[in-house]
Amino acid sequence: MEIFIYLILTAIWWVISLSVLLPFLVLLLISETVKDKWLTFIFLKVCGPRFGPKFVPLRKQLFKLLEEHLSKRNKSVPLKMLEIGVGGGANLQFYPENSSLTALDKTPPTLFDKNRKKFPHVNLDGIVVNYAEDMKEVPSGVFDVVVSTHVLCSVTSVDSVMKEVKRVLKPGGKFLFLEHVAFSKTQASYYIIQLFATPLWAIYFDGCFLNRNIADSIKKAGFRDVHCDHTYIPFLPLFFRPHISGIATL
Ligand SMILES: C[S@@+](CC[C@H](N)C(=O)[O-])C[C@H]1O[C@@H](n2cnc3c(N)ncnc32)[C@H](O)[C@@H]1O
Repeated sequence: MEIFIYLILTAIWWVISLSVLLPFLVLLLISETVKDKWLTFIFLKVCGPRFGPKFVPLRKQLFKLLEEHLSKRNKSVPLKMLEIGVGGGANLQFYPENSSLTALDKTPPTLFDKNRKKFPHVNLDGIVVNYAEDMKEVPSGVFDVVVSTHVLCSVTSVDSVMKEVKRVLKPGGKFLFLEHVAFSKTQASYYIIQLFATPLWAIYFDGCFLNRNIADSIKKAGFRDVHCDHTYIPFLPLFFRPHISGIATL
């Protein structure tokens, strides 16, 4: 039953977008100013308050997994962390003690800059405004941990990001991830709904693709070990319920 409701809603969304909302859709595609204002509104006023708190347990669990992997760490030595697509810094509260963070985002992370002051256990090493696919300002082999949460859905090339992540990690370094992904093709009707919604979704939500198999990209990136859990989050809109979370070791 739910699947039919989503199918009808997505069809209505297409019809409205290609008729009354067409001028807005075009503006989103051609005007950075309109896109920035829309994204600020949708993420800060709608998605953040509505869904942000629901991800807290998942983020907590993710960083607990990191702590388990770093159980032998000497806490007096700063932990060199790089977070790609840092956004507003929703992960900061879960960072390990004595973290030294380089924050990277394709847009200047002004909200992050404001939020970070609440978390003094994280020392800010630097902010890099660039794409994660080409982090030329970031030196090779210096990070203990790279973090990515809800970012790989919207990068231009997941494979290029993976290459860069491996380049900047120290040998034995960790890649910590939490991402929404495509339904398995065995759940064909759900997967088809994602395919049907993706072109519109990507325009409204900053190039976010619903139909990516990110687990495969991480697994084939050439890490020594990949721990990847698949989670289904029922309280989210159907489009982005399937998630993966885990840790890969170089
Ligand atoms: C959905 S937000 C997630 C923010 C944060 N990681 C979180 O979990 O709340 C995606 C963030 O990734 C950034 N982003 C998207 N594509 C990127 C890219 N290719 N390189 C770097 N940052 C990117 C966006 O600017 C945005 O801040």
